[in-house]
Amino acid sequence: MSRRRQSISPVKTRVIFVYETGNYDTNNGIILHIISHRHSKGGSITMISVDHQVALERLSGILDGGLDFHDQKSGNAVHRIHAFPAKFPPQIPRTFIQSLTDPGDTVLDPMMGSGTTVLESFLLGRKAIGYDVDPLSVLLSKTKTTPIHQEEALALSKEIVRRANDAFYRWRKEIEAELCVFWDEKTRDFVNYWFSRDVQIALKSILNEIERIEDEDLKDFFKICFSAIIITKTGGISLALDLAHTRPHRVRSAIDWNGNVIGQYSEAGFPPGMFHLKRIRSPFEEFERRCRQNLMFIRDISSGTRQTDFFTPFEEQTERITPHVSYGDAQNIPLASSCIDLVVTSPPYAMNAIDYMRAHKFSLVWLGYSISNLTTQRKKYIGSEGVMDGYSHSLPGGVMESVERLDRKKGLALYKYYSEMKNVLTETFRVLKPGGTAVFVVGDSTIRGQCLHIPEHLCAIGKSIGFSSPLIGTRRLDRNRRMMPASTKIRRMHEEYVLVFSKPSSVSPGSADAPQSSG
Ligand SMILES: C[S@@+](CC[C@H](N)C(=O)[O-])C[C@H]1O[C@@H](n2cnc3c(N)ncnc32)[C@H](O)[C@@H]1O
Repeated sequence: MSRRRQSISPVKTRVIFVYETGNYDTNNGIILHIISHRHSKGGSITMISVDHQVALERLSGILDGGLDFHDQKSGNAVHRIHAFPAKFPPQIPRTFIQSLTDPGDTVLDPMMGSGTTVLESFLLGRKAIGYDVDPLSVLLSKTKTTPIHQEEALALSKEIVRRANDAFYRWRKEIEAELCVFWDEKTRDFVNYWFSRDVQIALKSILNEIERIEDEDLKDFFKICFSAIIITKTGGISLALDLAHTRPHRVRSAIDWNGNVIGQYSEAGFPPGMFHLKRIRSPFEEFERRCRQNLMFIRDISSGTRQTDFFTPFEEQTERITPHVSYGDAQNIPLASSCIDLVVTSPPYAMNAIDYMRAHKFSLVWLGYSISNLTTQRKKYIGSEGVMDGYSHSLPGGVMESVERLDRKKGLALYKYYSEMKNVLTETFRVLKPGGTAVFVVGDSTIRGQCLHIPEHLCAIGKSIGFSSPLIGTRRLDRNRRMMPASTKIRRMHEEYVLVFSKPSSVSPGSADAPQSSG
């Protein structure tokens, strides 16, 4: 195996060292591990192959430019219309989109979450495509990029609240009867456990008014406002004490918006020292407040076809192109080969660290999804629970060794994650144009003090598929800002990693359109 070490070039501040990992096949170039270091002042040494030097210098320049973005404003309030776990800062996709694409180019996020990449691409005049298996993600990403008529929406929000409030008092019995047939038994049990009776009646009366709206864009906007009053860190108007942690807890007792005690609930195994009483705010007031707030947040994208943020010079402001967002599995991207200029995405953490569905089902049950349906959806999530049958050893050597070093159960779970990520990387490679770039923001974990080296392993997998010279940049997490899971036996690092994969400009015949089958 020959390694071409072409040059030793000083790279600026944050990059302090680069290493070639001996474990991996390096025929196609080398894996560079770039570690950022806050205290580093000096230059560093990189060893790069001739073929990739120019591209690598450009990409490592981006990674070198700093990716923490703490204490910086995100630049667009639209990102704030609904809570979502583990969002990445908008500056990450914005940096790569501005550096690597031109207006009119196509940017994909195959696991779009709250739609950060989709929105940034839209604001910068790129064609944005986004997929996710989470129905809330699809609704949220669509709403964030759909201009609506501000005054009409404001008037409508007041009308919804007036009529729903009226129905709450006048048609209570009828709404209760509707609630009895609205869900199957399992879903109804879930709703009865997590929502007080009065909140259920109030939510159903608001929902009935939303359903009356004919304009689909306005209807979706109000559904997001509706969902946003339930999914908050503190569980919103539900009886959940918090929804930011892996397992929500129900409050012991609650007081409603009129000061009445509306429930005495007992919860075995409740964590000691937690506050057991919750004040449930009026769903009508919460909804109206949220509509007003979200209308302000969304004003920027509703104000015209040009960007209006202060961060982009006027000459760079471009016409916006309606994004395509829909349900879709990143392991089977519904796109033709070689049509994407740039991918910017962040997959779920390994080992089911964030159970998106656990929180999202609190509002999705109101938006027409049953618990069984959501349980089926959940199996499609990358990193979800469950294991694959045995190992097929289709992953590169270093990766398999690390999996086998773990105890069997954890090893199989990690193997499942890597196999799914291999499918995602294979699909990403297929849809990228030759010369295109894919940016994956990923976390790492430790088990019993042992680092799992997930970024390096994903790079090795990417390289085995055909990506050349993956780069790894490091960013510190701002834990104050992010909705992160509580720590479990698996410890998350206080950093995350920005992996940059390049598809070679000339791909040998057949390889782009016929990616390797994954194990
Ligand atoms: C870390 S979040 C993405 C956050 C996003 N970057 C943002 O800023 O909001 C990961 C997303 O991957 C989605 N996901 C998980 N498995 C998927 C799959 N097989 N196909 C598509 N999306 C998937 C989850 O639903 C979740 O929304």
